[in-house]
Amino acid sequence: MTLAASALLLALAQSPDGGTPDAGTPDGAALFLKHGCVGCHPLDGAKGTGPALRGLFGTTVTLQSGATVVADEAYLRESIRKPGAKVVAGYLPLMPFFGALLRPEELDALVDFVRALPPLPADAGR
Ligand code: HEC
Repeated sequence: MTLAASALLLALAQSPDGGTPDAGTPDGAALFLKHGCVGCHPLDGAKGTGPALRGLFGTTVTLQSGATVVADEAYLRESIRKPGAKVVAGYLPLMPFFGALLRPEELDALVDFVRALPPLPADAGR
């Protein structure tokens, strides 16, 4: 992971706008690191094994089947729990199943984290 991506994750992890999470609230950014999501979904615009997730929420995704789906909350949830259910066009179904691994509140935290990821700045020169 590049330095820029680490800094971004740190900033997101410490972002105050969700209020102060109490001890029982899982931290989406921390889970994103812990479960290795960032290894396949880099947040710095680099090409990864999986699609870029920044700015994904609300966009229309083309699936391998040729169908399209709007990346709403239900889609994000399903994509994390059962990645094989809807495979993104141009990608291999390589994402591990996280459904059994995540507690429901952890899944919620990850969905919130992915939903809130800002798009890459258009001028992100690398
Ligand atoms: C081993 C690599 C790998 C890991 C680890 C991984 N993913 Fe993925 N992910 C992929 C691939 C490849 C796809 C595209 C194929 C598909 O749709 O199943 C994908 C698709 C997705 C999508 C749908 C993206 C889109 O453009 O519609 C989301 C959301 C997602 N992953 C979130 C996560 C989260 C959250 C984690 C950690 C809990 C994670 N991924 C861990 C490889 C990975």
